[in-house]
Amino acid sequence: MSIEIGPLAQADIPGAVECVQQAFSDDPYFRWAFDNPSKFNVERNAASLGAHFQYGINCGCPISVAKVTRAASEDKSGAEIRLPPGSVVGVAWWYSPQAQSMPQTWTVWAQDWVLSFRQLVNNIRFLGRGGLNVHRYKIWKQVQQKEHDAIWQDPRGYFCNVIGVSSQARGMGVGKKLMEDVMEKADRENMPCYLESSKGYPNVAIYERMGFELIKEIECVDGGDVCKLYCMTRSPKHKA
Ligand SMILES: CC(C)(COP(=O)(O)OP(=O)(O)OC[C@H]1O[C@@H](n2cnc3c(N)ncnc32)[C@H](O)[C@@H]1OP(=O)(O)O)[C@@H](O)C(=O)NCCC(=O)NCCS
Repeated sequence: MSIEIGPLAQADIPGAVECVQQAFSDDPYFRWAFDNPSKFNVERNAASLGAHFQYGINCGCPISVAKVTRAASEDKSGAEIRLPPGSVVGVAWWYSPQAQSMPQTWTVWAQDWVLSFRQLVNNIRFLGRGGLNVHRYKIWKQVQQKEHDAIWQDPRGYFCNVIGVSSQARGMGVGKKLMEDVMEKADRENMPCYLESSKGYPNVAIYERMGFELIKEIECVDGGDVCKLYCMTRSPKHKA
């Protein structure tokens, strides 16, 4: 498939937001956290995702996008995806390793504040959080933090914060290509990679193909509603 992988630029943010919204529309975590579909505000959600991508760019996080090339969109064979050239069909956002002993940088500290301010503006503009169940969001954050503290040695490795491929482009190698740059970098630096997926099938098998292994299943529980998270790590691979 003709796609190109490159770093997320400011101009790609709207496409990346749309791609993530589409890729995660049936995601178990998304359905658990936005538990009342009638309250879901897609514009509010897009504004929040956009603010987060801007934060990621400003903090220098490795974020890659997969875009349709001109050749792919003009191909008439039927095997290619018919989307306008430049359409974003995949996004991978990682956090780079950080030693637990290292203090937060001023850039990240400032960007944390900028993000909080942008979210406050979004709350005012859209009169709320667009259907996000804040109680559940906090449960997820706590469970995630506890798990990260348990899993990560010092220094922390690469954490895959978001990976999503549009449904039309799945199973064509896009996800793997998006992950490869950082996984290869991690191998060179002898660093582990880590991710969490709330979708066990088929994601666990997909990530196993990329060298990850399932290490734990954890649960975010709110009343009778449970969101399971599959925690997977990838040890650095050494080329023969
Ligand atoms: C999970 C996801 C990112 C994978 O991306 P993708 O582009 O579909 O995956 P790829 O085509 O690169 O496949 C990677 C490997 O998994 C295999 N694979 C792909 N789909 C598979 C499936 N349904 N079952 C088993 N293996 C599968 C591929 O054959 C490939 O292995 P290979 O390189 O040995 O041939 C994508 O499916 C997705 O966005 N899903 C919805 C959103 C989501 O769940 N995001 C992840 C949150 S953690």
